[in-house]
Order: sequence, then structure tokens, then C-alpha cells
Amino acid sequence: MKKLTLVAAVSTLFILVGCGGGRDYSPPADASGEQIFTTACSECHKPLSADKAMILSASVASKEAIVKKFQSGSMRMPAFKNIQGDAADRLADYVLKNSEVKK
Ligand code: HEC
Repeated sequence: MKKLTLVAAVSTLFILVGCGGGRDYSPPADASGEQIFTTACSECHKPLSADKAMILSASVASKEAIVKKFQSGSMRMPAFKNIQGDAADRLADYVLKNSEVKK
């Protein structure tokens, strides 16, 4: 019984934190793309190695598509509406330069 309550509580937490909704995270003005990625993204996108942040589908292998992805989110990824302007540019640059593109 107790175990079930715990499972329910943990699942609720996942639903609240995980899917859909956005994140309030705002990057510090001087944060590098790598710092933003480590803080905001690596919780779900574990870097594959020191210089490989993630594997990108060909359809998101451009700065515009990456910015759109993290500002709009998706069914399974939260939107980061406060990553804007220069910070968004630095983050997208970092992701693009440090990712492998899936063929
Ligand atoms: C709560 C978990 C979570 C966080 C935090 C998260 N993502 Fe995601 N992201 C996902 C999931 C799940 C997918 C795959 C589903 C999809 O494409 O929507 C994804 C997909 C992506 C894709 C598309 C990859 C592809 O090849 O199609 C990009 C780009 C991306 N994330 C960038 C980011 C960036 C940049 C951040 C940090 C600002 C971030 N994500 C934070 C869960 C997360």
C-alpha cells in the first residue's frame, strides 16, 4: 500500500516536471552555449562524450531548427521560452558544432 502511494507520487512528479509544460530557466547573461546545455539540457540529453553533445536528426541540423525546438518544445520535451537572443544563438551554435548528424 505504502509502496503504491510512493509510485503514484513519483509518477505525478514525472508528469509535472517532464512532459509538455515549459521550463522557467533563464540563462545568465554571460553563459556560454556549453554552460547552458549542461544546466538546462543535459538532464535529458546526456552528452555522449566530452565533445559530443547529442545526435541530431537531419531535420533539426540547423541553428534555426534547434532554436525552434528548445523554444517550442514538443510532446516529450519542455519548452524553454526564456532562452532568447544571444543566449539562444550561443546554445544552438554549441549544439550544432558538438553534435553528430544522423544520416
Ligand atoms: C525533460 C527532458 C528534456 C530536456 C530538459 C531537454 N530535452 Fe531536448 N528532447 C527531449 C526528448 C524526449 C526529445 C525527443 C523527442 C522530440 O524530438 O521531441 C528531445 C529532442 C531534442 C532535439 C531534437 C533532436 C532530434 O534529432 O530530433 C533537440 C535539438 C533538443 N532536444 C535540444 C534540447 C536543448 C538544446 C535542450 C536544453 C535547452 C533540451 N533539448 C532539453 C527531452 C528533453
